[in-house]
Amino acid sequence: MTRLLTASDIATLVARHQDGRTLAQDFYMAPQVFTADRERIFFRDWHLAGHVSEIPDTGDYLLFDMLGESVVVLRDDAGAVRAFANVCRHRGARLCSQQTGHVRRLTCPYHAWSYGLDGALVHARQLDAGEDRSALGLKPVAVEVFEGLIYVSLSDRPAGFDALRAELTPHVRPFGLARTKIAARRSYPVQANWKLLVENYNECYHCTAAHPEFARSHATHMTADRVAPLNAALAARSAQAGLSTAHIDRIGLAAPAGSPDYAYNRYALFDGYQTGSADGEPLAPLLGDIQAYDGGASDIYVGMLNPMLVYCDHAILYRFIPTGPLTCIQEILWLVHEDAVEGRDYDTDRLTWLWHVTTEADKRIIEANQQGVASRFYEPGPLVEMESYTRRFHDAYLARMR
Ligand code: FES
Ligand SMILES: [Fe+2]
Repeated sequence: MTRLLTASDIATLVARHQDGRTLAQDFYMAPQVFTADRERIFFRDWHLAGHVSEIPDTGDYLLFDMLGESVVVLRDDAGAVRAFANVCRHRGARLCSQQTGHVRRLTCPYHAWSYGLDGALVHARQLDAGEDRSALGLKPVAVEVFEGLIYVSLSDRPAGFDALRAELTPHVRPFGLARTKIAARRSYPVQANWKLLVENYNECYHCTAAHPEFARSHATHMTADRVAPLNAALAARSAQAGLSTAHIDRIGLAAPAGSPDYAYNRYALFDGYQTGSADGEPLAPLLGDIQAYDGGASDIYVGMLNPMLVYCDHAILYRFIPTGPLTCIQEILWLVHEDAVEGRDYDTDRLTWLWHVTTEADKRIIEANQQGVASRFYEPGPLVEMESYTRRFHDAYLARMR
């Protein structure tokens, strides 16, 4: 049974955090901390809502749902991507209930008020003539499209994308993510607080023991001095392939003022591995403008909660969707070149194998982590050098809670 925390209790917890150690138990359990997380992290940050290929035509829409909020992301008459709160301006009913669909107008199923694709109220039967219809349009939600990836923020004053766009675009553009399609998507419900998922994603200290499949091809579980020669050799191959090996790190306290977090880093796979496959062999046609396999993978962050991993022939997008203090969904989207044909150019089972087995293993270790953290015997433990990104996540998180 967790105790009730006040705002000043949470401030005390933040102030008492010991640098370089895991967080206090309440951060992973307490409903009041989760409420603060919702306001300060989830309703403020940018979230991956989908890919432009999901809504190619005017009137196509998809829903983005998080913590009781629902956003309709649609393609308007001019072909632009727009987002609106999925809340009717009459009595507040949800307008759309299907995850994706196609509409000419958004018509509320309750009393049939209807809205144009620009959100304007176009029809409201018997509405008093004195009502100002122009003030009853759907509430717009902040939306940004970056390299074909659609992000939304539930904040009234979201962080601006200018710095991220300016600095990341040259490094991400060669992957042609705007010219991909979703080959597969899977949801992994995890019985744990969302922070344990993010902490786990940010370190590979656990990879040797937990992920034999991953550790066979990826060098991220080795110490920096052992990885350095592999990455030095990668740089020349990447340059030839037309890919960047720049190291951009604007996470947490390193993010420009008023910007979401972002990062780019490319690292080497072990020799013999061209991509994240079981045998090192290609999984799909090369992405974008890539000239050849360089044997690398790029870690890219757009916001604190949207990591992606981009190989030469496919990309993996993650999203962490919290559903309560002790539950979170980890969703993964696999992207391949838009022209790739399943069965001919790629096999979905081969494509998804590595990150499916890896995520299933992560789910097990994260759930066991939550169980231990919930124990009366738990106390914050020391992080090691290989957990420096987890530590940085703590810094960024705690800064938000101050
Ligand atoms: S609640 Fe939507 S039309 Fe009445
Ligand atoms: Fe893992």
